[in-house]
Amino acid sequence: MLDDHALQQLERKIDSWRSRVRDADERKTYDEVFDQQTLLLIAKLINDGVLSTVDYPVSTGKEGNVFHATAKDGSALAMKIYRVGNAGFKNIANYIIGDSRFRNVRRTRKDIIYAWAQKEYKNLLGMAAAGARVPKAIEQQRNILVMSYVGDETRPAPLLREVRLDDPAAALEDLVGTMRAIRKAGLVHGDLSEYNVLVWDGELWVIDCGQAVPLAHGHADEWFTRDCGNVARYFHRLGVDVTAKGLEERVLSE
Ligand SMILES: Nc1ncnc2c1ncn2[C@@H]1O[C@H](COP(=O)(O)OP(=O)(O)OP(=O)(O)O)[C@@H](O)[C@H]1O
Ligand SMILES: [Mg+2]
Repeated sequence: MLDDHALQQLERKIDSWRSRVRDADERKTYDEVFDQQTLLLIAKLINDGVLSTVDYPVSTGKEGNVFHATAKDGSALAMKIYRVGNAGFKNIANYIIGDSRFRNVRRTRKDIIYAWAQKEYKNLLGMAAAGARVPKAIEQQRNILVMSYVGDETRPAPLLREVRLDDPAAALEDLVGTMRAIRKAGLVHGDLSEYNVLVWDGELWVIDCGQAVPLAHGHADEWFTRDCGNVARYFHRLGVDVTAKGLEERVLSE
């Protein structure tokens, strides 16, 4: 049975977040992200004990919104909600088509979004099992993914591009460890850059793993090269002696 009280409380909170947003487009994303089905699903997650509370918005991205939430045991969670009625749909379909794990997904918008959330969940589990530093995947239902939160109560971990690193070479070495582990998991991230790496307590966390594909995917090699190119370019700019080709070799060696 759904907990009406939890649902009403959540709706009040959402209203207050929405009313604080000045930007009309951003206000619209609130209506998109919290459609009736998604609201009921959140209430169900609360009811099932996956979440205790949904606390505040962390980010509004192209495909989804991320919220800070709290688990029953008090630990901090990141809840990513993929918007079902969003415009990034075509882009998403590109990464699902050609991924043999999702061969049987029906091609309606909703099914593809659900498959996408499931894909990010599975990618996170696979990467973590291989030793990559990625958020711990906790639950996925339909368009909602719940994972561990990187950061603390005062702020989410900043993006790599926002921090001044004390030792860029050591940070790159740390990231190479996770890049190797992702490879070991048989995956290519596909959107790796300073925009999808968080830095917390001197450690680098790779996020945004929805588009990651198996090595057998037709674009896997091309996307691996692109990922390495992005990372090498960023660290080269910080003065680290690294090239795209050299980084590829380092990730592949071991
Ligand atoms: N586990 C997490 N812990 C803390 N913050 C997170 C976590 N996951 C995501 N975030 C925050 O939410 C933002 C958006 O997450 P993510 O990149 O996964 O989503 P996205 O919809 O693809 O967004 P974008 O289009 O901005 O890339 C991140 O840049 C980060 O600031
Ligand atoms: Mg991102």
